[in-house]
Amino acid sequence: MPTPIFVLNGPNLNLLGVREPSIYGAETLEDVKRRTQARAEALGHNVDFRQSNVEGELVTWIQEARDKASGIVLNAGAYTHTSIAILDALNAAEKPVIELHLSNVFRRESFRHHSYVAPAAQGVICGFGPKGYELAIEAMADLLTRKSAR
Ligand code: DQA
Repeated sequence: MPTPIFVLNGPNLNLLGVREPSIYGAETLEDVKRRTQARAEALGHNVDFRQSNVEGELVTWIQEARDKASGIVLNAGAYTHTSIAILDALNAAEKPVIELHLSNVFRRESFRHHSYVAPAAQGVICGFGPKGYELAIEAMADLLTRKSAR
């Protein structure tokens, strides 16, 4: 098995499908996981897909990624806008990072316009709903191909 891409999901994303569907859509996190895995497999990658409501657990998983992941796709949920601990962990991981959001955070409340994840990320994908997970996998696969060609 190739080294997995970690796809990490933060707080409240376990409620996808029932949580504010007008913003986040009708798909559950399990649906999103399936489409993420399918896209990764089609591109010759595999994913380790996880969700936690606990900031420290996300930090621990990002630390784990340093040795066990090829890259990190992170939808940190609300921790995006608050967590210096997640930023520090991402910087320490020394892996390609893609920041991901289902919703277009820039069309929403101003407190969602600031991201602590963005300074550690190669790029940001937001506003495309569950499709964004597939786009993030495609972007990560490109980054990893370019990295291995260097
Ligand atoms: C989110 C956007 C965040 O602002 C919010 O706190 C979330 C989900 C998104 O995927 O659109 O929990 O990350």
